[in-house]
Amino acid sequence: MNTSNLVIALTKGRILEETLPLFEQADIVPTEDIATSRKLIFDTNHTNIKLLVMRGSDVPTYVEFGSADMGVAGKDLLLEYGSEGFYEPLDLKIAACRLMTAEPVNASPVADRLRVATKFTNIAKKYFAERGIQIELIKLNGALELAPSLGLADSIVDIVDTGNTLKANGLEPRELIANISSRVIVNKASMKIKNAVIREILCKLRTAVDSA
Ligand code: PRP
Repeated sequence: MNTSNLVIALTKGRILEETLPLFEQADIVPTEDIATSRKLIFDTNHTNIKLLVMRGSDVPTYVEFGSADMGVAGKDLLLEYGSEGFYEPLDLKIAACRLMTAEPVNASPVADRLRVATKFTNIAKKYFAERGIQIELIKLNGALELAPSLGLADSIVDIVDTGNTLKANGLEPRELIANISSRVIVNKASMKIKNAVIREILCKLRTAVDSA
């Protein structure tokens, strides 16, 4: 492996569980168990490669500003953040789900301005604007599925995996906004300066994805 120092920001939680086996196949292995440690930065089997573990919503920021050279984050968070600040060279095809609108089962069309609750405010703004639908955005950070039944919103924009959370809260999926999976992103300057080591990692990860 090339000797350039390299920092990779990983998304904690379910994405991390699916990321680590791919990294292991690409010969990048943390020297201690990330799952049981409270540390946020980890050494690997390569002295020049370190792993950071953080919330997915912070990964694009660390990569755009160069504190991390590479990162792994869900496409939902990348769409919400905006894609100008980094390259997105690889789809890891893990943590697959859908970003959807959802409404109460059998809800009738809303006559007034549609009230939409979501944590994905930029995505929702763009999605409804492109369709000429005027909305009132209500920013929430979780428990979105409660908003319609409590009269806070007519519709939500959220991640749907099995659909069980929607169903359990009297909601049904409506429109697909985007298919989601986790992507590798790369800082633009790092891609030039550390091209050899980054290309080598991307190549090994691509092989791991293709053989999964
Ligand atoms: C996501 C999403 C839904 C749920 C959907 O939440 O916000 O609540 O998963 O999954 P399902 O379709 O299989 O029921 P997550 O548990 O990732 O936590 P979050 O609220 O922090 O996003």
